[in-house]
Amino acid sequence: MDHFLYRDGALYAEDVPISEIAAAVGTPFYCYSTATLERHFRLFDEALEGVDHLVCYAMKAASNQAILKTLAALGAGMDVVSGGEYARAIAAGVPGERIVFSGVGKTREEISAALTGGIRQFNVESEPEMEAINAVALELGKVAPITVRVNPDVDAKTHAKIATGKSENKFGIPISRARDVYAHAASLKGLKVIGIDVHIGSQLTELEPFELAYNKVAELTEQLRADGHEITRLDLGGGLGIPYERSNSAPPLPVEYGAMIKRVLGPQGCEIEIEPGRLIAGNAGIMVTEVIYVKEGEDREFLIVDGAMNDLIRPAMYEAHHDIVPVVEPVPGEEPARYDIVGPVCESGDTFAKGRALATSKAGDLIAFRSAGAYGAVMSSEYNSRPLIPEVLVNGDQFAVIRRRPSYEEMINRDSIPTWL
Ligand code: LLP
Repeated sequence: MDHFLYRDGALYAEDVPISEIAAAVGTPFYCYSTATLERHFRLFDEALEGVDHLVCYAMKAASNQAILKTLAALGAGMDVVSGGEYARAIAAGVPGERIVFSGVGKTREEISAALTGGIRQFNVESEPEMEAINAVALELGKVAPITVRVNPDVDAKTHAKIATGKSENKFGIPISRARDVYAHAASLKGLKVIGIDVHIGSQLTELEPFELAYNKVAELTEQLRADGHEITRLDLGGGLGIPYERSNSAPPLPVEYGAMIKRVLGPQGCEIEIEPGRLIAGNAGIMVTEVIYVKEGEDREFLIVDGAMNDLIRPAMYEAHHDIVPVVEPVPGEEPARYDIVGPVCESGDTFAKGRALATSKAGDLIAFRSAGAYGAVMSSEYNSRPLIPEVLVNGDQFAVIRRRPSYEEMINRDSIPTWL
């Protein structure tokens, strides 16, 4: 459920008409709903009620400071994967003890910044990285809390580009080698082993792959304890999918996911961490664009909109589906038209949808791409020298620009000219 609904014939974000925001900030823009962000965070938090837990929002999904502050105020932790994300989390007021550091290639600088600023744990992805964390910790006179990310060799049954739990993927250490790696970790004085980490992929639409992976984690917990390690925390990653197509059956709910976690891992008595990103932010955001032209093709009509692949890359990159809806509610019973909905960028890949049913549209109409809150703005670029589009946050009947559109001048002035020119 989200808070982008039609009311009196027009699309609203909570209590604000989308057309009002468009008039104020221009198109295209991203618009997020505070109520939806909060609701989704609480769904996870409540799903794990009864067990010691922390929901660490995977901020790679949407990392605007206002979004982080909204979630942090509810007690969210953060899952970060770079020095930049760590700095963003700290800047949003998230205490170090609520920040976990994931990612396959943490640099010494990033490790040092996190150890100095405070960190809940590093999720270690390889032995060389483990040694680097140990070395930096010893240099700083600190002890780094770690889990080791294990790769359980489980098929997440999702798009190949976002599956991470098969042995051919670059992530984690093979679970078959885990005991050796933990023995190695225990011998390093700059590290304190506290648990196990696993993350098998994103946009999972079934619980089964999670359950397979978590069963392996349960088994490993027991083996490692028998080997003498103190395993007190299990980080179970993110990955629960969202309904991108309203017409399709929906993925499992957080409450079902939470119940499965408690059933499979409850007996281990560990503190549970999860790292959801998409489910918190995805349906809490839309991208609003304006139709520039309706163009007659040989055998089809193109709707050319002012948003493009540089603003929302998911359709071009993952063949992802986003529901696309008009901002003026279609008249009930009216036969929709079919359009190829495309952006102005000079690539055929700049196509959001082909043959999509949409109310008959004309230049100047506003249309919204739903489920664009996660992996939308964060993956945008200025390709074709199109400035990054603004982000707006709605809260009840108020809205605020939380990242403004840079001017052409600002965009150009980031370049510098060498003295010989
Ligand atoms: N934890 C780790 C270690 C991850 O790598 C990810 C996502 C998450 C948590 C959050 O997963 P989520 O709950 O959002 O599924 N750009 C792609 C998605 C890439 C996901 C990468 N890792 C997309 O637009 O579909």
